[in-house]
Amino acid sequence: MKKYFKLNNGLQIPSIGFGTWQTPDGSTAIDAVKTALAAGYRHIDTAAIYKNEESVGKGIKESGIEREEVFVTSKLWNSERGYEKTMRAFDKSLNDLQLDYLDMYLIHWPAVENQYKDWQKINAETWRALEELNKQGRIKTIGVSNFLTHHLKPLLESATLTPSVNQIEYHPGFMQQDIVELCRKNNIVVEAWSPLGTGKMLNNETLITIAKKYKVSVAQLCIRWVLQNDVLPLPKSASPHRIKENIQIDHFEIAPEDMQTINNMDYFGGSGMNPDTINF
Ligand code: A2P
Repeated sequence: MKKYFKLNNGLQIPSIGFGTWQTPDGSTAIDAVKTALAAGYRHIDTAAIYKNEESVGKGIKESGIEREEVFVTSKLWNSERGYEKTMRAFDKSLNDLQLDYLDMYLIHWPAVENQYKDWQKINAETWRALEELNKQGRIKTIGVSNFLTHHLKPLLESATLTPSVNQIEYHPGFMQQDIVELCRKNNIVVEAWSPLGTGKMLNNETLITIAKKYKVSVAQLCIRWVLQNDVLPLPKSASPHRIKENIQIDHFEIAPEDMQTINNMDYFGGSGMNPDTINF
């Protein structure tokens, strides 16, 4: 399996990221990040709203691994959209992480029509701040998260730089093909948050049957399936055993007919977090 995805600005991003959503701040997050780095992950995904950036930063530092060897992503929270606020929120994230640059910074959720009349302008202004931070060399690359087709299209029209990634919910039964295709057309890497459906896919009978055939866990099957669909998985775990398990996916390959069975699985909405209707 490939070790990196190539981004549209030529940078490489390690092909499995370590997710930290719902990883409690403090020793849990510090230990999880250290365990992940020791296990071989070189890509850590956090966000201001996860409230664990300080611990994630400590975990990176305490791992002893060189800063340049780790790809670190954080995300701008919704209340901080707009040019000036984005600049300040970025400084705070960087300070909390105790880093002097980020590899990637994402707009966490799009401003949406039913909450803001001028939502397109808000997204454009926020994006302009990210472009400026990128120009200053403080972020290596920039992207978006949870942007659906009708959010991404207007952003692409106003943007100077095309987002490098779009991080969306993606797991068996929830493939969001429209936005995945639009991303592919624009050379935007799709990242999968909750590749295990926040753990809810682990009891799925179809997946259990296929996983048995390859003698792997359902989690490993889901993560490998995401990658074989050319999407970048971000599995989260706080358990040392599962953190290690989730990166061991090179010893098997899902056959085309099994890929198809999983791709055709019935709709499973997973988290239910729809960017247009969720109200944070
Ligand atoms: P835990 O942190 O206790 O390991 P997702 O990445 O889709 O959001 O899923 C995360 C959820 O799945 C968490 O509840 C996590 O719990 C659980 N999880 C992560 N990896 C595994 C695994 N290999 N086996 C079982 N559960 C897992």
